[in-house]
Amino acid sequence: VPENDPSVLFTTAGMQQFKPYYTNPESAIKDFGSKNIVTAQKCIRTGDIDEVGDATHLTFFEMLGNFSFGGYGRREAINYAHDFIIKELGLDISYVTFYKGEGVVPKDEESQKIWQELGVHDIREDGADVFWGPTGDSGPCGPTTEIYCKNADGQDVEIWKVVLNEYFWDGSREKLDKGEANLKKVDVLGIDTGMGLERLVATVQKKKNVYETDLFNNKETKDERIVADHVKASLFIISDGVVPSNTSRGYVLRRLIRRAVRFSKTPLKEEVLKVKEVYKGVYNLDDKGEIEKEEQKFKKTL
Ligand code: ALA
Repeated sequence: VPENDPSVLFTTAGMQQFKPYYTNPESAIKDFGSKNIVTAQKCIRTGDIDEVGDATHLTFFEMLGNFSFGGYGRREAINYAHDFIIKELGLDISYVTFYKGEGVVPKDEESQKIWQELGVHDIREDGADVFWGPTGDSGPCGPTTEIYCKNADGQDVEIWKVVLNEYFWDGSREKLDKGEANLKKVDVLGIDTGMGLERLVATVQKKKNVYETDLFNNKETKDERIVADHVKASLFIISDGVVPSNTSRGYVLRRLIRRAVRFSKTPLKEEVLKVKEVYKGVYNLDDKGEIEKEEQKFKKTL
């Protein structure tokens, strides 16, 4: 649950709480003692809910990220990402992307060149998919460069996205996509990166999908996966102080629990216990009986 951004219901990206620092980098020094930050951020994204149950999509995930508000730039950010993937994790990069340019935003030839110099052979040009943001009603945005690795099924999975926040747009992404944008170039390039822990773990552990990793207890059918994901998301949302209701966050939570009930063959309580076991000692998760209560309510309605 975001602490200081009323324009969104949930934190959807690691950069969410850092939005003000991209336009006011000096305040990062004051608040954090540095312009460079790393985080592991709990995120909720319901935009891809219909994809949940495939190899990579989740409504709850942890996003690992490094951020810089004028501390380091494009070259360093790409180098850090490359070194971490290749040297620290020992993975092979399948391919990377860069922004092809549109309107006032030029083709990102600089990122293309940096990847070439690093010896990456498959470098692909891409469009709107590799332009990030803004989140909510306004904010930093810019071209991204993404890193794909192969999973155990030979599928290419986007492991990491490096966003180059070169612009500020005083409007939503929807308006930006409609071509109503008047992008303002920012004074200082901001770096925002996101690497989904679950996808990364699946790749490092040579699994075919996120549900086969330690983070899930091996879920085989799509229904089981949906239940596991939704129960996990609900447990994290409730632990952040939200209860099921008919409005706002509470309604998203209600819909997640009810959707889990529809796909589950057993009471949700069993899955609640499994999720708690996985995160024991890392996150303090407590649903205070809310999941079971909502489950009963829904079953009665049915
Ligand atoms: N902000 C970028 C994302 O969430 C890194 O994908």
